[in-house]
Amino acid sequence: VSAELAELVRSHVRDVPDFPSEGVLFRDITPLIADGPAFDALITALADAYRGRIDAVAGLESRGFILAAPLAARLGIGMVMVRKAGRLPGPVLGVDYSLEYGTARLEVRAETVQDGSRVLILDDVLATGGTAAAAITLIEQAGGHVPGLAVLLELEALAGRRKLEGYEVQSVLTY
Ligand code: PRP
Ligand code: MG
Repeated sequence: VSAELAELVRSHVRDVPDFPSEGVLFRDITPLIADGPAFDALITALADAYRGRIDAVAGLESRGFILAAPLAARLGIGMVMVRKAGRLPGPVLGVDYSLEYGTARLEVRAETVQDGSRVLILDDVLATGGTAAAAITLIEQAGGHVPGLAVLLELEALAGRRKLEGYEVQSVLTY
Protein backbone atom coordinates (compact mmCIF):
# COMPACT_ATOMS: atom_id res chain seq x y z
CA VAL A 1 0.00 0.00 0.00
CA SER A 2 1.41 3.38 -1.03
CA ALA A 3 2.44 6.29 1.17
CA GLU A 4 -0.01 8.38 -0.84
CA LEU A 5 -2.93 6.17 0.17
CA ALA A 6 -1.78 6.17 3.80
CA GLU A 7 -1.77 9.98 3.74
CA LEU A 8 -5.23 10.07 2.14
CA VAL A 9 -6.56 7.81 4.90
CA ARG A 10 -4.81 9.77 7.63
CA SER A 11 -6.32 13.02 6.37
CA HIS A 12 -9.82 11.50 6.57
CA VAL A 13 -9.56 9.96 10.05
CA ARG A 14 -10.82 12.14 12.89
CA ASP A 15 -9.03 11.90 16.23
CA VAL A 16 -11.50 12.06 19.12
CA PRO A 17 -10.00 12.42 22.60
CA ASP A 18 -11.70 10.76 25.59
CA PHE A 19 -14.05 8.55 23.54
CA PRO A 20 -15.63 6.17 24.42
CA SER A 21 -14.07 6.79 27.81
CA GLU A 22 -11.65 9.16 29.54
CA GLY A 23 -8.07 8.83 28.31
CA VAL A 24 -8.86 6.92 25.11
CA LEU A 25 -7.98 8.53 21.76
CA PHE A 26 -10.58 7.21 19.31
CA ARG A 27 -9.71 7.03 15.60
CA ASP A 28 -12.96 7.79 13.82
CA ILE A 29 -13.20 6.52 10.22
CA THR A 30 -16.63 8.02 9.49
CA PRO A 31 -15.19 10.96 7.45
CA LEU A 32 -13.28 8.50 5.24
CA ILE A 33 -16.31 6.32 4.61
CA ALA A 34 -18.45 9.39 3.91
CA ASP A 35 -16.05 10.67 1.22
CA GLY A 36 -16.81 8.94 -2.07
CA PRO A 37 -13.46 9.45 -3.88
CA ALA A 38 -11.41 8.58 -0.77
CA PHE A 39 -13.48 5.45 -0.05
CA ASP A 40 -13.17 4.41 -3.69
CA ALA A 41 -9.39 4.95 -3.67
CA LEU A 42 -9.09 2.75 -0.59
CA ILE A 43 -11.15 -0.10 -2.02
CA THR A 44 -9.30 0.14 -5.35
CA ALA A 45 -5.93 -0.11 -3.57
CA LEU A 46 -7.06 -3.12 -1.52
CA ALA A 47 -8.44 -4.79 -4.65
CA ASP A 48 -5.15 -4.23 -6.50
CA ALA A 49 -3.18 -5.64 -3.56
CA TYR A 50 -5.22 -8.85 -3.24
CA ARG A 51 -6.56 -9.57 -6.75
CA GLY A 52 -5.82 -13.19 -7.66
CA ARG A 53 -4.39 -13.94 -4.22
CA ILE A 54 -7.59 -14.67 -2.29
CA ASP A 55 -10.81 -16.60 -2.90
CA ALA A 56 -12.99 -14.80 -0.35
CA VAL A 57 -12.85 -11.98 2.18
CA ALA A 58 -14.07 -12.33 5.77
CA GLY A 59 -15.51 -9.13 7.22
CA LEU A 60 -15.70 -8.74 10.99
CA GLU A 61 -18.92 -7.22 12.30
CA SER A 62 -19.52 -4.41 12.34
CA ARG A 63 -16.95 -1.97 11.01
CA GLY A 64 -15.12 -4.69 9.07
CA PHE A 65 -18.32 -5.23 7.06
CA ILE A 66 -18.04 -1.70 5.66
CA LEU A 67 -14.71 -2.57 4.02
CA ALA A 68 -15.17 -6.25 3.22
CA ALA A 69 -18.39 -5.99 1.22
CA PRO A 70 -17.14 -3.48 -1.39
CA LEU A 71 -13.79 -5.27 -1.66
CA ALA A 72 -15.48 -8.63 -2.30
CA ALA A 73 -17.83 -7.10 -4.86
CA ARG A 74 -14.96 -5.31 -6.62
CA LEU A 75 -13.00 -8.58 -6.89
CA GLY A 76 -16.02 -10.67 -7.80
CA ILE A 77 -15.48 -13.00 -4.84
CA GLY A 78 -17.63 -13.90 -1.85
CA MET A 79 -17.71 -12.22 1.52
CA VAL A 80 -17.81 -14.35 4.67
CA MET A 81 -19.80 -12.70 7.44
CA VAL A 82 -18.11 -13.11 10.82
CA ARG A 83 -20.74 -11.92 13.26
CA LYS A 84 -21.12 -11.16 16.93
CA ALA A 85 -22.86 -13.82 19.02
CA GLY A 86 -26.47 -14.71 18.43
CA ARG A 87 -27.02 -12.92 15.13
CA LEU A 88 -26.54 -15.75 12.63
CA PRO A 89 -29.05 -18.56 12.27
CA GLY A 90 -27.45 -21.94 13.00
CA PRO A 91 -25.62 -24.10 12.64
CA VAL A 92 -22.70 -21.84 13.52
CA LEU A 93 -19.15 -22.19 14.79
CA GLY A 94 -18.24 -19.86 17.65
CA VAL A 95 -15.07 -18.65 19.35
CA ASP A 96 -14.86 -16.77 22.63
CA TYR A 97 -12.17 -14.15 23.07
CA SER A 98 -11.22 -11.71 25.78
CA LEU A 99 -11.76 -8.01 25.75
CA GLU A 100 -10.22 -5.49 28.12
CA TYR A 101 -13.14 -6.21 30.46
CA GLY A 102 -14.91 -9.53 30.02
CA THR A 103 -15.30 -11.69 26.94
CA ALA A 104 -17.05 -11.64 23.60
CA ARG A 105 -17.91 -14.24 20.99
CA LEU A 106 -17.66 -14.30 17.21
CA GLU A 107 -19.58 -16.72 15.02
CA VAL A 108 -19.56 -17.90 11.42
CA ARG A 109 -21.63 -20.27 9.31
CA ALA A 110 -19.13 -22.94 8.27
CA GLU A 111 -21.04 -23.52 5.04
CA THR A 112 -20.06 -20.04 3.85
CA VAL A 113 -16.35 -21.01 3.89
CA GLN A 114 -15.22 -23.27 1.04
CA ASP A 115 -12.82 -26.04 2.10
CA GLY A 116 -9.24 -24.98 1.48
CA SER A 117 -10.19 -21.57 0.10
CA ARG A 118 -7.92 -18.59 0.75
CA VAL A 119 -9.84 -16.21 3.02
CA LEU A 120 -8.46 -12.74 3.74
CA ILE A 121 -9.54 -11.40 7.11
CA LEU A 122 -10.39 -7.70 6.93
CA ASP A 123 -11.21 -5.26 9.70
CA ASP A 124 -10.98 -1.53 10.31
CA VAL A 125 -8.70 -1.50 13.35
CA LEU A 126 -6.10 -3.81 14.86
CA ALA A 127 -5.83 -2.98 18.55
CA THR A 128 -5.08 -5.81 21.02
CA GLY A 129 -5.53 -8.37 18.25
CA GLY A 130 -8.15 -10.37 20.15
CA THR A 131 -10.83 -9.91 17.51
CA ALA A 132 -8.51 -10.79 14.61
CA ALA A 133 -7.09 -13.84 16.38
CA ALA A 134 -10.60 -15.14 17.08
CA ALA A 135 -11.50 -14.64 13.42
CA ILE A 136 -8.46 -16.67 12.28
CA THR A 137 -9.49 -19.53 14.56
CA LEU A 138 -13.03 -19.44 13.23
CA ILE A 139 -12.10 -19.40 9.54
CA GLU A 140 -9.63 -22.24 10.03
CA GLN A 141 -12.17 -24.29 12.02
CA ALA A 142 -14.59 -23.75 9.15
CA GLY A 143 -12.05 -25.28 6.74
CA GLY A 144 -10.59 -22.13 5.21
CA HIS A 145 -6.97 -21.12 4.79
CA VAL A 146 -5.95 -17.67 6.06
CA PRO A 147 -3.20 -16.20 3.86
CA GLY A 148 -3.22 -12.96 5.82
CA LEU A 149 -5.06 -10.14 7.52
CA ALA A 150 -5.63 -6.58 6.41
CA VAL A 151 -6.61 -3.63 8.56
CA LEU A 152 -7.06 0.03 7.85
CA LEU A 153 -5.51 1.23 11.10
CA GLU A 154 -3.03 -0.50 13.37
CA LEU A 155 -2.59 0.81 16.90
CA GLU A 156 1.01 -0.29 17.46
CA ALA A 157 1.10 0.47 21.17
CA LEU A 158 -1.41 -2.33 21.78
CA ALA A 159 0.84 -4.92 20.09
CA GLY A 160 -1.94 -6.81 18.32
CA ARG A 161 0.56 -8.34 15.91
CA ARG A 162 1.96 -10.43 18.72
CA LYS A 163 -1.29 -12.41 18.79
CA LEU A 164 -1.07 -12.99 15.03
CA GLU A 165 2.38 -14.49 14.70
CA GLY A 166 2.88 -16.53 11.55
CA TYR A 167 0.27 -14.55 9.62
CA GLU A 168 0.95 -11.70 7.22
CA VAL A 169 -0.63 -8.53 8.58
CA GLN A 170 -1.04 -5.60 6.20
CA SER A 171 -2.09 -2.23 7.64
CA VAL A 172 -2.78 0.84 5.54
CA LEU A 173 -1.82 3.16 8.38
CA THR A 174 -0.11 2.72 11.75
CA TYR A 175 -0.44 4.93 14.82
C1 PRP B 1 -13.34 -2.68 17.25
C2 PRP B 1 -12.69 -2.63 15.90
C3 PRP B 1 -12.06 -3.99 15.75
C4 PRP B 1 -11.71 -4.35 17.20
C5 PRP B 1 -10.23 -4.22 17.44
O1 PRP B 1 -14.57 -3.37 17.12
O2 PRP B 1 -13.68 -2.42 14.88
O3 PRP B 1 -12.98 -4.95 15.26
O4 PRP B 1 -12.42 -3.44 18.03
O5 PRP B 1 -9.93 -4.47 18.78
P1 PRP B 1 -8.98 -5.64 19.28
O6 PRP B 1 -7.83 -5.73 18.31
O7 PRP B 1 -8.54 -5.19 20.63
O8 PRP B 1 -9.78 -6.89 19.33
P2 PRP B 1 -15.73 -3.34 18.19
O9 PRP B 1 -15.89 -4.71 18.73
O10 PRP B 1 -15.45 -2.25 19.18
O11 PRP B 1 -17.06 -2.95 17.47
P3 PRP B 1 -17.61 -2.56 16.05
O12 PRP B 1 -16.72 -3.03 14.94
O13 PRP B 1 -18.92 -3.28 16.03
O14 PRP B 1 -17.77 -1.07 16.03
MG1 MG C 1 -14.95 -4.17 15.05
